[in-house]
Amino acid sequence: MRAMRLDYFVAHATGLTRSQARDLIRRGAVRVDGQASVRANLRLSGETVYLDDAPLALPGHQYLMLHKPTGVVCSTDDPGHRTVLDLIPTALRRDLHSAGRLDLDTTGLVLLTSDGQWSHRITSPNTHCPKRYRVDVARPLTPAALEQLAVGVVLRDDPTPTRPASVQLLSDTRLNLTISEGRYHQVKRMLAAVGNHVVALHREAIGAVALDADLPEGQWRALSRSEIDTFQ
Ligand code: URA
Repeated sequence: MRAMRLDYFVAHATGLTRSQARDLIRRGAVRVDGQASVRANLRLSGETVYLDDAPLALPGHQYLMLHKPTGVVCSTDDPGHRTVLDLIPTALRRDLHSAGRLDLDTTGLVLLTSDGQWSHRITSPNTHCPKRYRVDVARPLTPAALEQLAVGVVLRDDPTPTRPASVQLLSDTRLNLTISEGRYHQVKRMLAAVGNHVVALHREAIGAVALDADLPEGQWRALSRSEIDTFQ
């Protein structure tokens, strides 16, 4: 995580200046979880910050990119697994949800937001937002299979062919696949439909927003204004 400093967080949550926030921290008015904190440069990870016993939250909507590791679910509540929200500081979690989901064993880009209209533009079947995946498969890919994936395949239990996809072969058993739908387990089912099997799946991009190459698994960062605006 690009951890947020305590004084920055208090200033943004309260509308005070950084130096006013530092004053509050020095005076012991700010608690981080149970502890009165006097360190303005404390790096927050998952803690709740209180000012005079009231929990603080950042105003406005949040827009984040997360590098999802395997073993983490995209739902916000799961009794059996860690969720994507467990990787985000408590202060940012209010109303946060993922704009589309990845399977438990899929890694890569997840966009998280508290803005339901914004996430709807990404996930709505009507907007055809492209999502690019790096796909590793069990058996060498044939030209015929690549052609079928590009044109559209019929998935098991679903008579409507998939929309045309963009396909780029990276090696015998690796491809980039860009799809503009979000059907259940779509990539895995597409590869099954051409007689192959996905062994690893990683999402690299959603629309014009690509996962930072230097963002480690399990880490997040806030989206820039221009990244947010690409989905307006
Ligand atoms: N398609 C899949 O099969 N799984 C994912 O996690 C995403 C797309």
